[in-house]
Amino acid sequence: MLDLRAEFEVYAGEVRAAVDRVLTGGQYILGPAVAEFESDLCEKFGAGHAVAVSSGTDALLCALMALEVGAGDEVIVPSFTFFATASTVVRLGARPVFVDIDPRTFNIDPRAVEAAITPRTRAIIAVHLFGQCADMEAIGSVARARGVKVVEDAAQAIGARYHGKYAGTLSDLACFSFYPTKNLGGIGEGGMIFTGDAALAQLCRQLRNHGEVKRYHHERVGGNFRLDSLKCAVLSAKLRYLDGFNRRRRQIAGQYDELLRGAVTTPHVLEGNEHVYHQYSILCDRRGELIEFLRGRGIGTGVYYPVPLHRQECFRFLGCGEQTLPVSEQVCKQIVSLPCHPMLGDDDGQYVADGVREFVAQRSGVRSAAAAGKSRA
Ligand SMILES: Cc1ncc(COP(=O)(O)O)c(C=O)c1O
Repeated sequence: MLDLRAEFEVYAGEVRAAVDRVLTGGQYILGPAVAEFESDLCEKFGAGHAVAVSSGTDALLCALMALEVGAGDEVIVPSFTFFATASTVVRLGARPVFVDIDPRTFNIDPRAVEAAITPRTRAIIAVHLFGQCADMEAIGSVARARGVKVVEDAAQAIGARYHGKYAGTLSDLACFSFYPTKNLGGIGEGGMIFTGDAALAQLCRQLRNHGEVKRYHHERVGGNFRLDSLKCAVLSAKLRYLDGFNRRRRQIAGQYDELLRGAVTTPHVLEGNEHVYHQYSILCDRRGELIEFLRGRGIGTGVYYPVPLHRQECFRFLGCGEQTLPVSEQVCKQIVSLPCHPMLGDDDGQYVADGVREFVAQRSGVRSAAAAGKSRA
């Protein structure tokens, strides 16, 4: 699915030099390398403020803490997403309200959001799943009308655009992840918060360092959400490659779109969106067989995600297990991601697509033979 070692060879020289600068500089946590990376990101993506934190999960936690989400509050989240989108809400004593997704994009359905708003709703988390922005205009207008904050979970969407604006600049607070497999992957855990609000940015900076306002003076309880200098120096060096790598992901996706059209359900990109294909995910009603078939040809696949969050054991106490969210439930059964990363060549893309098409052709052959057998009988 991914070849991080081959990717490293592309930028090894710059990364080694950046690591050396930090090692000889002697400041290993926060400091100039972190400040530089924060300002690089602000400049590249047009964000007002950027606050580097220890992971994408901690970015979500810190952002929700800055919005003072807590007991008695509700936060609307999609059920079809990575666990941390909802677990951070629960960790603050608030209640995640799970809603369904748009079957075409797999992103949160703005109509479902509107229907789920109550006087207790504090925030909506819009996840840009697989690298495509959620319908932020519709979500923003619902939120504004009801006085609710919007948080983007842009962990999978760095560099994605929505009507010309970058993911992370479309809400009150946005969260990114630099987990090594992400489109901008680091050498360990890492995350970032964007906001256009100077006061919220200041609050996030305090919260990432135990709520300290000056040395050993704490106005509120924060956490240790600090990020290491080494990781930021590496990320700054890699940032130069992001656009090219995202372009390559889009080319591979374009190749799949063309070769797989009609064979399986391919990703749908909404008008005005520039997808960065953190994952290229298709729907296939014989997913398990397809995965085995491709494995037999040396092709890796991934299932993101097999269980909708409202059906997770740890959220049972919320009483959401009885809830029915048909689109999320169906998509969890059929979704499968194909290899889509910048190190793939056109031949690789062709090989993967040939594998999928062959599987579909064989299955429909089996089906039509069975149907013919039945009609003869
Ligand atoms: C949608 C989404 N949200 C949040 C996270 C959490 O990021 P991290 O793994 O850096 O904590 C991830 C990462 O896997 C993610 O994909």
